[in-house]
Amino acid sequence: MLTPETLSLIQATVPVLREHVEDITRHFYNRMFTHHPELKNLFNLGNQASGEQQQALAGAVYAYAANIHNPAALAPVLERIAHKHASLGITPPQYLIVGRHLLAAIAEVLGKAATPDILAAWDQAYWLLAMELVAIEAKLYQQAGWQAGQTWRQVKVTKIEPASQDALSFYLQDPQGGVLPTFLAGQYLSVALDVPALGLRQIRQYSFSNAPDDRTWRITVRRVAQADTPAGMISNQLHDTVKVGDWLEVGPPSGEFTLDQTTDRPILLLGAGVGVTPLVSMLKQLIRTQPHRQVLLGLAGTSTQYLPLWQDVRTDLAGLPNATCHLWLEQPDMTPPTEAHIHPGRMNLSDLDSIPLDAEIYLCGSLPFMRAQREWLLANGFDVSQIRYEVFGPDLLGGLD
Ligand SMILES: Cc1cc2nc3c(=O)[nH]c(=O)nc-3n(C[C@H](O)[C@H](O)[C@H](O)COP(=O)(O)OP(=O)(O)OC[C@H]3O[C@@H](n4cnc5c(N)ncnc54)[C@H](O)[C@@H]3O)c2cc1C
Ligand code: HEM
Repeated sequence: MLTPETLSLIQATVPVLREHVEDITRHFYNRMFTHHPELKNLFNLGNQASGEQQQALAGAVYAYAANIHNPAALAPVLERIAHKHASLGITPPQYLIVGRHLLAAIAEVLGKAATPDILAAWDQAYWLLAMELVAIEAKLYQQAGWQAGQTWRQVKVTKIEPASQDALSFYLQDPQGGVLPTFLAGQYLSVALDVPALGLRQIRQYSFSNAPDDRTWRITVRRVAQADTPAGMISNQLHDTVKVGDWLEVGPPSGEFTLDQTTDRPILLLGAGVGVTPLVSMLKQLIRTQPHRQVLLGLAGTSTQYLPLWQDVRTDLAGLPNATCHLWLEQPDMTPPTEAHIHPGRMNLSDLDSIPLDAEIYLCGSLPFMRAQREWLLANGFDVSQIRYEVFGPDLLGGLD
């Protein structure tokens, strides 16, 4: 526990930290990578370049300080971070490295404003937060039968098939034909690839797109093409160089964006673009276990040709007699599919006749897409506790309200 003095010092310094938090976290990463260049293999350099990871760490430190007295609000945030860490195999000793450089970065950026008392208070807070994360991560490793820092599991690519004009599905199995850890519908996997151009390894997460299975895993990867920003490193390497028979290094199935099957309340699944992947895993699991559950599926995309796994969705809908599907397409097809109600343009939930007010809601897509749907839902009588979401990058949606 933090002493009341430490707590008030932290709360008093939250505003100044908030003002400088992005400088602090940027300086922190530069400092840590200078002393520990091997950690560049662990962090997503695309997120570093775009500044998103800095914002996520900043958000977590701020949220922790601001809510230190409010464990109920912190719990889901810690859970999400711990799942991400566990998918990456983060070890307790690495907290020493991060702690040392984070505290040094606070001292160096704040200068004289960072008095020894303030630094000691933040040191205590960091370690309290670190211990909470280490404890949750230890539990996750135990549940997955995984050791923090163990050599990553190898899986063999047994099939690759198109999932849309710009997405491929990769089927993965144990190279010796053994069983794999199973996963929950909605979870993801970390995949590590060497990037020869950088002389580094890079890790990315991909949601499972099949129903939970301990023999075959499937992930579906959209190619991130060059636009105003560089082409995506790993998605392009997966599309261009990975072949059937290759082995990939992967972490344990992780993630807390999972289908709640302890209830049979109606379910609203909203996805945009490649954000459909975890929702497809959920649809397939519903067919197996709750085929009569009321499902309202809303998907947004450019056209069905660019909507990953649309052919899967069409088949899955046939196995869910109480499911309704709505598609919002920016370029509607000449021959509209019969399985869905088609709406031109971007997703607008006002186009729906009604959404059951007790629905469990699962959102996955770009941040602007999720912000728009979440805003609409909150303005139309839904409670924040009904809404779960997955961000395909560092969580900038801000779990805490
Ligand atoms: C939990 C989770 C689940 C996911 N599930 C899926 C999934 O099922 N399917 C899927 O396709 N993806 C999924 N993703 C996203 C995936 O992990 C990758 O982020 C995605 O494939 C892009 O990786 P990349 O290496 O190709 O791109 P990166 O190289 O990481 O680039 C990412 C973005 O950063 C930009 N960028 C790079 N350098 C700079 C720079 N210098 N300045 C500005 N911007 C820059 C790139 O242009 C690109 O837009 C998921 C992510 C998470 C966190
Ligand atoms: C108290 C300490 C820590 C906090 C508060 C913290 C916070 C975070 C947050 C908020 C994220 C983003 C989660 C998401 O939304 O996806 C994250 C991801 C990550 N963390 Fe930590 N972390 C801590 C310790 C560590 C340690 C010790 C390591 C190991 C060196 C580490 C490595 C990573 C990596 C590699 C990612 C993924 C980054 C990416 O893919 O861009 N973290 N962490």
